[in-house]
Amino acid sequence: MPSSTVAAALVAADPLAHLRDEFVLDEQVRSYLDGNSLGRPTRTAAERLGRFAVEEWGARLIRAWDESWMELPLRLGDRIARLTLGAAEGQTFVGDSTTVILYKLLRAAVDAQAAAGRHEIILDTGNFPTDRYLLEGIAAERGMTLRWIDTDPVEGVALADVEALLGERTAVVVLSHVEYRSGHLADLPGITAAAHRHGALVLWDLCHSVGSVPITLDAHEVDLAVGCTYKYLNGGPGSPAFGYVARRHLGRLRQPVQGWMGAADPFAMGPEYAPHPGIRGFISGTPPVTGMLAMEGMLDLIEQAGMEAVREKSVALTASPRSWWTSC
Ligand SMILES: Cc1ncc(COP(=O)(O)O)c(C=O)c1O
Repeated sequence: MPSSTVAAALVAADPLAHLRDEFVLDEQVRSYLDGNSLGRPTRTAAERLGRFAVEEWGARLIRAWDESWMELPLRLGDRIARLTLGAAEGQTFVGDSTTVILYKLLRAAVDAQAAAGRHEIILDTGNFPTDRYLLEGIAAERGMTLRWIDTDPVEGVALADVEALLGERTAVVVLSHVEYRSGHLADLPGITAAAHRHGALVLWDLCHSVGSVPITLDAHEVDLAVGCTYKYLNGGPGSPAFGYVARRHLGRLRQPVQGWMGAADPFAMGPEYAPHPGIRGFISGTPPVTGMLAMEGMLDLIEQAGMEAVREKSVALTASPRSWWTSC
């Protein structure tokens, strides 16, 4: 059978095919394979941003802070959590870049664990550069030792590699759920459980899995996670990242960038910083409101499609051609 016939049959059978029209498409770009770097805009993004400028920013001005913007980092965080992270509300916030949130969560984790005599961080050479560079800095700053796993880029990090380094000195394990070069999917449940058996915390970088792979943070008792929103959540260039802190750690872990927006009562303008006891305590400064708007259109589409269907399609698109032939 000619490959064009196979392709036409696959499109006809694709339950998500109609959603293609929900994105801004450009005739010049026949096939876009860089969604893992920057997702396309949804058709609703431009309309949402324009309406915001006129109806919210333009018409409500400063009143909109109380009416909706102050809550946006947590409202959006809860929506990302429910639709893509397998996480209950009150544990996820949006704001800052991935790099900055990684720093805040890792410093919080490292400080809590160092107080318990744990001074080692497990990471792998497959981690994204920003994660590795930050950890080098945090190790120097807080007197921690980095324990490296030299990961094969294609095979990815394995549970046994992590188990070989875990011990009573391990403070935190920091890994990517999906490897940014090969797409290898790490064993999140297995590695998280192994770390916990040794009293370590785990931070998962979800940049390449959020919106592409169903994630189960609460069910697998993940401690901390971070992810960006400009890839598969289609938030646009530089849209802010999200951070997840499991409820059991809220009030216990303390982040280092103590800004007024994470204070217990920001508008009290008090003489000293007192952290908000909830996930709001991980916010630092004024929320980047405009950067949070475009991703809402993608979350609407994920809500409509469901993460399981997104994953099924992505596996079908990347499966070997042999399985296409047999499925038609
Ligand atoms: C896996 C991963 N971690 C961290 C980052 C850094 O994110 P940011 O530039 O938003 O700080 C990226 C960026 O692409 C990434 O892919």
